[in-house]
Amino acid sequence: MVNGPPIEELHFADAPSVDAVPGPNSEQLLERQRKIDSSAVAYPKRVPIALEEARGATVRDVDGNMFLDFFAGIGVLNVGHSNPYVLEGVQEQLGTYTHTIDFPTEARLDLIDRLREIAPGGLRGSSNVVFGGPTGSDAIEGSIKLAKHNTGRHSLLAFEGSYHGTTAGALTLTAGKQYKEGYGPLLPDAVHVPYPSASDDGDVGCTEALEAVKRKFENPYGGHETPAGIWVEPIQGEGGVVVPPTGFLQGLRDIADDNDALLVVDEIQTGIGRTGEWFASDHFDVTPDAITMAKALGGTGLPIGATLYHEQFDTWGPGGHVGTFRGNVPAMVGGLRAIEYIEAHDLLSHATELGTYLRDRFREVATSTPEISAVRGKGLFIGLEFVDGDPAKELVTEIQRRCYENGVLVWSAGRYKNVLRLIPPLVLTSEQAETGADIICDAIEASTGS
Ligand SMILES: Cc1ncc(COP(=O)(O)O)c(C=O)c1O
Repeated sequence: MVNGPPIEELHFADAPSVDAVPGPNSEQLLERQRKIDSSAVAYPKRVPIALEEARGATVRDVDGNMFLDFFAGIGVLNVGHSNPYVLEGVQEQLGTYTHTIDFPTEARLDLIDRLREIAPGGLRGSSNVVFGGPTGSDAIEGSIKLAKHNTGRHSLLAFEGSYHGTTAGALTLTAGKQYKEGYGPLLPDAVHVPYPSASDDGDVGCTEALEAVKRKFENPYGGHETPAGIWVEPIQGEGGVVVPPTGFLQGLRDIADDNDALLVVDEIQTGIGRTGEWFASDHFDVTPDAITMAKALGGTGLPIGATLYHEQFDTWGPGGHVGTFRGNVPAMVGGLRAIEYIEAHDLLSHATELGTYLRDRFREVATSTPEISAVRGKGLFIGLEFVDGDPAKELVTEIQRRCYENGVLVWSAGRYKNVLRLIPPLVLTSEQAETGADIICDAIEASTGS
């Protein structure tokens, strides 16, 4: 298979087909899940379906309903569900060997080579990659250790509205109280400062946000030890698809340089083509010291996390950062093939074009829908913020329900869950984008009465 079929051939269909949902078979599995699965289960509460099969940007539930998937496993399935080019490589690999800890394999070294080639700015060709555990949180843990090891400091700086994961170090950086409360104490001496242009928290300008960061480094009575690094999402995802002003990341770069700290850019949700560039850092022309990756890195949902960092920081010895599952070869093949598929089918440009089309459609609806306070994003990372006096969480829940009933799966985000978050696979076709936008716009109009 030479780089797989064109994107038009990946899906069940271009338009969804949905009866009354949830159907009886979904109901049965949902009920079974409620009895025995953890109370921590969250997604089916808002999108009550049980899946049977998924292809491209489409999923079919156990009752035969077919949906357009506009959240793609929360940014995991960038090349679509069950991409045949990715699966072919993964299945071949599964038949040979699957787990190698960190012994060299062609797949591992080829993936590292490709990541070094597509890495942002000055990391291109001058970086190393460390694999640890399989999740994004694990990659963040690796980056915390990297920063501590290279600076000899332990304090951490992150942003309000951020999400970096849920293991102890990553959870320290995550800003959402809902994830933290009851689980402290976490790592000491971590500070959170405002992220610029978070309109639902009142606008914070770029200069003001950078001043706050600077104070935490340079004010002798700032209240904290000097941070080892700055952890930042180049576009906040969970925080509401917030795109910072142009100079923000460069400002952070300068502060990190002035204070011998590491700039760690969390590309776990924004990486591997999501925003129309390989990494969102590319939009801002900034070279981070390290980037974290996971989610789409496994190609077809296979778990793998990685931290890529400038080679000058490769100072640790053997065992400096480890994890049993740091040699998941099928996931490495999956990642490699996903990168090849994105390249061969020019999906970075495609994501840019479709993202612009979708945002234009939503901006048009916003002209007659005062509740839409912002339409944000880059590439196929899109957020629509709703405010009706207060942040309109219930409105977003209602829109999400209507979308689901009409065959489009969408998710939410934002500090107050008042942002509709759209992260469809990059293989979404133009027809699917148009149909999906029609359904989402109808749901907005029906829910707001506009
Ligand atoms: C920006 C960002 N960082 C880190 C994580 C944590 O990744 P994981 O859930 O795989 O631990 C996420 C997950 O949504 C994320 O969006």
